[in-house]
Amino acid sequence: MVEDPALDVLLPVRRAGHRIAPSADEHELVALFPYPGSGTAGRTSRPAVHVRANMVSTLDGAATGADRVSGSINNAADHRVFAVLRAVADVVLIGAGTARAEGYADVQVPTALRAGRRARGQSDTLELAVISATGPLPDGLLDAHPRPLVITTTARPDLVALQRRIGADRVLLVGDGASIDLARALDVLAARGLRRVLTEGGPHLVGELARAGLLDELCLTWSPLVVAGPAPRIVDATGWLAPAVTARPAHLLHSAGVLLGRWILDPATGSAASSPGPLAG
Ligand SMILES: NC(=O)c1ccc[n+]([C@@H]2O[C@H](COP(=O)([O-])OP(=O)(O)OC[C@H]3O[C@@H](n4cnc5c(N)ncnc54)[C@H](OP(=O)(O)O)[C@@H]3O)[C@@H](O)[C@H]2O)c1
Repeated sequence: MVEDPALDVLLPVRRAGHRIAPSADEHELVALFPYPGSGTAGRTSRPAVHVRANMVSTLDGAATGADRVSGSINNAADHRVFAVLRAVADVVLIGAGTARAEGYADVQVPTALRAGRRARGQSDTLELAVISATGPLPDGLLDAHPRPLVITTTARPDLVALQRRIGADRVLLVGDGASIDLARALDVLAARGLRRVLTEGGPHLVGELARAGLLDELCLTWSPLVVAGPAPRIVDATGWLAPAVTARPAHLLHSAGVLLGRWILDPATGSAASSPGPLAG
C-alpha cells in the first residue's frame, strides 16, 4: 500500500518548514481545520452554522479535467486533506449536478478518524445532503446506506416517489418553487444538529452560497496541471460577485507541487470574518 504523502507547511510563516507526516488519527491535520465553537462563528445572523467549501482546481482554473469530473485533476495530497475535512464535518452538502457527475453514494469516515469525531461530540455517521429542485438523482446515491438527505421543494415532480424510496424523514422540504433558499436549507440542516457543513461543490452551488453570503471558508487545492478546455471554474455563479468576496489565508500546505490552502472568507455583506484558525504571518 502506498503511504499518504507528507505535507509541508508554507504558511503561516512562523510554522514554515514544519512537515506534517501521515498518522492514523491525523491529529495534526485535524487541528488545522477547526470549526468554530458555538457562539464564535463569523456570521452573527447564523451563529451556529459554519460552511466550508473544499474544491480542487488546476493552475489554469479548471474545476474538471477532460473527463468532466474532478478525479483527473486531484491527487494523493488532496485525498489526504479531503478525508480529514470529511472527518471533522457533520454533513457533506453537494449540488445534484455533482451527485450526477461524480457518482456520490456514501461518505463514510475512515475508522481511525472516528475516535476524534466522538471526542468532538460528533456521531460516527457523516451525513450526505444533496440539493436538488427537479433533476434526476442517481440510483447509487438513493440506494446508499445511510440514505442521503435530499433538500428539495414541494414542487418536485417525483416528490412522493422520492419520499417512498428514501423515507419521508430524509426528504427536507424547503419552499415550493424551483429555487431553494440556501439560508433556509442551512437552517433545516442545523435543526437536525448538522452545523459543521462541508460543501464539496459543485461550482454552481458554491457560487450560490457565495452570492448569498453563506460561505465562511474555502479549502482549495491547486493541482500542478494545465488543461485548458471548456471546464467550469470552482465558483460558477452567473454574474459578478460585487463587491468581491475577500479572503485571508489560514494556512498553505505543499506536497510535490500540489498547494493546499485554507482561506477564511469575508462575505463583504456587513459581518466580520470569523477567526477559527491560525493566521498567516
Ligand atoms: N473541482 C472540484 O472541486 C469539483 C467539485 C465538485 C464538482 N465538480 C464538477 O463540477 C461539475 C458539477 O457541478 P455543477 O456546478 O454543474 O453542479 P452543482 O453545483 O453540483 O449542482 C447544481 C444542481 O444543484 C441543484 N441546486 C443547486 N443549488 C440550488 C438551489 N439554490 N435551488 C435549487 N436547486 C439547486 C440543482 O439540481 P437539480 O437540477 O436536480 O434541480 C442544480 O442543477 C461536475 O463536472 C463535477 O465533476 C468539481
